[in-house]
Amino acid sequence: MQLCLPRKWRGKGITTLSRLPPASRLAHPSTAMRLSCLFVLTACISTVIGWNTFIVPHSPGEDDVPALLEALPDLVENSSIVFQEGLTYNLFSPIKFPKLTNVEVVIEGNLTYATDIASIQGVVSSQNVNYWFVSFAILDRLLLLVVRITFNGGNNVTLRGSTSPNWGWIDAHGQAWWDAEILDRRPNGISFSHITDGVIRDMKIFKPIAHVFATGGSVNLHAFNNRILALSDTDSFPFNTDGFSAGGTNMVFENNFIQNGDDCLTVGDGAKGIVFRDSYCEGGHGLSIGSLGKGGSVANVQNVLIENVTMVNSLYGARFKSWTGGNGLAHNITWRDITFDNIYVTQNYWDQETGPKPNTMNPNNTHVEDFLFENFSGVIRDAPFVEGSCVTDPCWYAVPNATGKEVVIFDLYPDTTSNIRTKNISAKTQTGAPVAVMCDPTTVTNDVGFKCQDGPFVPTASGKESPIE
Ligand SMILES: *[C@@H]1O[C@H](CO)[C@@H](O)[C@H](O)[C@H]1NC(C)=O
Ligand SMILES: *[C@@H]1O[C@H](CO)[C@@H](O)[C@H](O)[C@H]1NC(C)=O
Ligand SMILES: *[C@@H]1O[C@H](CO)[C@@H](O)[C@H](O)[C@H]1NC(C)=O
Ligand SMILES: *[C@@H]1O[C@H](CO)[C@@H](O)[C@H](O)[C@H]1NC(C)=O
Ligand SMILES: *[C@@H]1O[C@H](CO)[C@@H](O)[C@H](O)[C@H]1NC(C)=O
Ligand SMILES: *[C@@H]1O[C@H](CO)[C@@H](O)[C@H](O)[C@H]1NC(C)=O
Ligand SMILES: *[C@@H]1O[C@H](CO)[C@@H](O)[C@H](O)[C@H]1NC(C)=O
Ligand SMILES: *[C@@H]1O[C@H](CO)[C@@H](O)[C@H](O)[C@H]1NC(C)=O
Ligand SMILES: *[C@@H]1O[C@H](CO)[C@@H](O)[C@H](O)[C@H]1NC(C)=O
Repeated sequence: MQLCLPRKWRGKGITTLSRLPPASRLAHPSTAMRLSCLFVLTACISTVIGWNTFIVPHSPGEDDVPALLEALPDLVENSSIVFQEGLTYNLFSPIKFPKLTNVEVVIEGNLTYATDIASIQGVVSSQNVNYWFVSFAILDRLLLLVVRITFNGGNNVTLRGSTSPNWGWIDAHGQAWWDAEILDRRPNGISFSHITDGVIRDMKIFKPIAHVFATGGSVNLHAFNNRILALSDTDSFPFNTDGFSAGGTNMVFENNFIQNGDDCLTVGDGAKGIVFRDSYCEGGHGLSIGSLGKGGSVANVQNVLIENVTMVNSLYGARFKSWTGGNGLAHNITWRDITFDNIYVTQNYWDQETGPKPNTMNPNNTHVEDFLFENFSGVIRDAPFVEGSCVTDPCWYAVPNATGKEVVIFDLYPDTTSNIRTKNISAKTQTGAPVAVMCDPTTVTNDVGFKCQDGPFVPTASGKESPIE
């Protein structure tokens, strides 16, 4: 049973009209229903035994968001919200979902942002928006970072794209932003926050403007088969196009394909039980924990496993960064089976654009405990190159005294690190020069798997490959 209603319909009290059998459960609305929903100025809700299916209506040339927002109050529970295949929807304003229960949002059509940069910037400042497309939960990333208000944004929520190669793309037209080097009032992509039992699958993001997915505060998340294409067609760099920002608890990210210009994965404060595996990352800055402890804040991350990831043209393979003078603990973090560029662990992250390294007399640091880097192989790009995000001199990523031939850089403070190890690291340099490491023996208390020095990479017995049982 379905209703096709005029666009101005406010949708009160019509969700339990029918007692029809659960013929399709309407995860995939029937063809008949799709056809009857093609009137572009109508909004359609169909209800089968308490399950609502809403086909988002489309008006050529107009913003399609308001019609969805109008219908949302009736779709907060037991609902499918479907952007239909065959249509390119205009996402000219942000979507904020209320708390949802048993809801799937299905993107089978294409979604396009406005191409007019100034209009998007205007919306970002006037509505104080941080994430554009799906702010699941009333959520503002800045607010969360600063105030850390925790609330529940929903239960059993799925965000699903399409497996068709031609449909289901969200096109943010980021290229124009990258070309114009606009860093001001950029909207981020999809915030999937404070959801318990969430799924993000088959999503396809084309040229995002900035960050793509953020999952802060969610619990039990499965994110798989997603694609992010944020490679620039020009010499301009796709700044801050982070792939997945993982916050929250019990999350599995797998089979994702990410081409971007910042961290492929970044695991933030409060994260616990994060698995990221079987994925491809190209063009970005690495598989990262952090940055943690900015401004002396206390940050905690624990139980992270990153495995079987192919890194291509990435500034770093594995990366840990806590701010100079940070606080808190990063504990039980493993990276393994990575083909890479290299490994960089620093408790000394600072913004090199804002001046020299800050005073390190601060007694605190984010402590590092039980880190393992195992089974890495790859080639270090030691022929001189400048990564696209390097727009200052020195580069933001410059490490004092590094030669560019390091497979591992441990930049740590004494008495704040325990049990950081490498094992079965196999690396070559592009030029054939000997592979190097940076490591200060006064900062580590265990055998790190290679001779801890600023100099050649010399594996110790514990760092060599152990036979496979
Ligand atoms: C949603 O569906 C569940 C069963 O799956 C049911 O218990 C609940 O009452 C439904 N909620 C509404 C508002 O219909
Ligand atoms: C969870 O939501 C899906 C739709 O995404 C629905 O099919 C399923 O029945 C829901 N699970 C429960 C336990 O209600
Ligand atoms: C959907 O969007 C993608 C990315 O912009 C584009 O490559 C594709 O051609 C679009 N599909 C259709 C059918 O227009
Ligand atoms: C590693 O990940 C790739 C996808 O990037 C997958 O095809 C392959 O099966 C994975 N290997 C294992 C051992 O799981
Ligand atoms: C370390 O983290 C991994 C990945 O989350 C987890 O499987 C393992 O149980 C943790 N180990 C300990 C000792 O907590
Ligand atoms: C080591 O990693 C490579 C990929 O980098 C993988 O093919 C291989 O199976 C891994 N070895 C083990 C023992 O897991
Ligand atoms: C160091 O950490 C302690 C405990 O968290 C805190 O009380 C103190 O203010 C911190 N010191 C500085 C200089 O940040
Ligand atoms: C050690 O690394 C090599 C090269 O990546 C890989 O082929 C092998 O499987 C690794 N062995 C173990 C035990 O991880
Ligand atoms: C760089 O190397 C020089 C010479 O060995 C040394 O004096 C200096 O302290 C090093 N700088 C850093 C930041 O490690």
